[in-house]
Amino acid sequence: MKSHEEPTPIAQAPRNKPGETPDLSIVVPTYKEAENIEPLGGRIFAVTSSANFSTELIVVDDDSQDGIDLKCRELATRYNVRLITRNGARGLATAVLHGMSQARGRLLVCMDADLSHPPEAIPAMVQALNRGADFVLASRYTRGGGIKHGWGPHRFAISKLATLLARPLASVTDPMSGFFALPRAEFLHAHDLAPLGYKVALELLVRLAPKRLVEVPIHFEDRRFGKSKLSLHVQLEYLRHLRRLYRYKYPFVLELGQFLLVGFLGLILDLGVYVGTQLFLGLNHILARSVAFICSGSHNWFRNRHHTFLYGRMRRPLPQWVSYLFVVSLGFLVNVGTYTVLTVGTRAFADRRYLAMLTGILAGAVLNFYVFSRSPARQ
Ligand code: GDD
Ligand code: MN
Repeated sequence: MKSHEEPTPIAQAPRNKPGETPDLSIVVPTYKEAENIEPLGGRIFAVTSSANFSTELIVVDDDSQDGIDLKCRELATRYNVRLITRNGARGLATAVLHGMSQARGRLLVCMDADLSHPPEAIPAMVQALNRGADFVLASRYTRGGGIKHGWGPHRFAISKLATLLARPLASVTDPMSGFFALPRAEFLHAHDLAPLGYKVALELLVRLAPKRLVEVPIHFEDRRFGKSKLSLHVQLEYLRHLRRLYRYKYPFVLELGQFLLVGFLGLILDLGVYVGTQLFLGLNHILARSVAFICSGSHNWFRNRHHTFLYGRMRRPLPQWVSYLFVVSLGFLVNVGTYTVLTVGTRAFADRRYLAMLTGILAGAVLNFYVFSRSPARQ
């Protein structure tokens, strides 16, 4: 993706001279936020100057063409404001990381442009950093925080579900928050950042795994001007982002989960093909079973190669497919073998055949998973 920057002239704030490091760099991503940037800038600089922090405001705009450049130029006559316009690139998370990489302050803050995040919380965030925190998250759900808006039940439910899904990744009350602060030195430690979608704080929390994490309560307000950019596309991107972060933090759990999901889909396909070929093609039992086995085995092989065990893609497809079907057949033998031994050998299982069957399926799946996750192509 091409990203062309065009910094507008920087007017130096009275508090810090050219070349001097400001205390704070506040990064604000914008897309069609022209009417919000002036009141936001006014509030930010009112708060930071009364707290005596020298501050630069970095606005990262994705070529909104809504006159934000004029607004920023006007603000820059009074404060230290820099506008970075990205042409060709779109995306909240990449915009924020780009702004942070251009920042010069000792501390970095990221917040939305739409006045949902109260700049008045900044001094408390800075204080927490100055006391040794290495990441500060502004939270709606920690004690003292809240939401001042009329979100409908639909958006509320989506937000709750999204929060629940992220909980195992970061032990914070509001992993969805887009208002956070960290020392620039910490940010520079972040490797393998792979921003996607909206959740840049979550990305940093997982990749940096900060030890001293502090939450500061905020009252989140709904925007007054403009529209939210949270589209369905962004929500789907969030799921992809989550998968990536789970793969990073819990590779085993992710692989096992996906393997089981693929196995489950394969089972449905297996049953469908088995019944379908008998009904519509009149195949006999053995033939229908074999066709169903090859179809579901191939489906599972393909999905696991592309989604579960990513390192599997390094091997040539044909031999891998053949050995996959071979191992799955072994797994099937273990499945049936376990069932037979259990039901013939013990009364308890003879009376509960479905339990023996489940144990068999589990034993087969464990063998399959063991073989595939230890694939030599992993190294
Ligand atoms: N540069 C750039 N590029 N900025 C963007 C883009 C983009 O593609 N998309 C959105 N933004 C900016 C908006 O202009 C705004 O300043 C900020 O990112 C948040 O966008 P909103 O559209 O207001 O998002 P939201 O209110 O739905 O979501 C906010 O609340 C969530 C918690 O409920 C954000 O803060 C999320 O990060 C937060 O998780
Ligand atoms: Mn918003």
